[in-house]
Amino acid sequence: GRGIIIAIDGPAGAGKSTVARHLARHFGLLNLETGAMYRAFALRAIEGDFDFDDPVSLERLAGQTKITLVPTLTGNRVLLDGIDVTQRIRDSDVTQGASRVSVHPTIRAWMVDLQRALGQKGGIVMEGRDIGTVVFPDADLKFFLDASPEARSQRRYEQTPAAAENRGTISQELRERDERDRNRAQSPLRPAPDAVTIDSTDLSLEEVLRRIESIVKARL
Ligand code: C5P
Repeated sequence: GRGIIIAIDGPAGAGKSTVARHLARHFGLLNLETGAMYRAFALRAIEGDFDFDDPVSLERLAGQTKITLVPTLTGNRVLLDGIDVTQRIRDSDVTQGASRVSVHPTIRAWMVDLQRALGQKGGIVMEGRDIGTVVFPDADLKFFLDASPEARSQRRYEQTPAAAENRGTISQELRERDERDRNRAQSPLRPAPDAVTIDSTDLSLEEVLRRIESIVKARL
């Protein structure tokens, strides 16, 4: 049979990437960051001057785009048509673009196929918005990591390279992204019925990890 599949979903800034990375390292699993794939595609759309609201053109673009995720100990590296775009996809224009291209059902279907192929052998921690609900509804363990909007924008602010953006912009962008991710018709962000929800507003990374690790350990 396949190895274990752990799904981690939740809104931006809830700490999913950090938690997924630590968890994968702790248990010797691969960490796959699906948000990076939407980001890479958004970058492709930006470079080609595509309209984020034109699903027909975007679908054609998708057919000509190759996105590769390379898991490493420090996070995923992302290749867009063979070019390493790991740093570039963290910029604000790409971040907003990712949340806009990801509303289109044909784009999501393409991504979900890629993600299922990447994860089919198991032995993975896959992180995103719809892993437990759509990509791997039969995942062995599902976590929904949440936190208050204030805590999430504070964390984003602390992670953002010095003076890159101001606090107001970050919290505004986070709110817009939340709004789109939760309200889109296709695969809106929500906890799977069988997910364990962890609100990390008042928890340290260590506390979140301890809770999740004890649940995973009981399952291995
Ligand atoms: O997780 P990250 O912030 O990198 O994701 C960027 C955007 O990609 C999210 O705001 C969301 O709109 C989209 N996304 C998605 N489904 C996923 C992962 C990310 O719709 N599984």
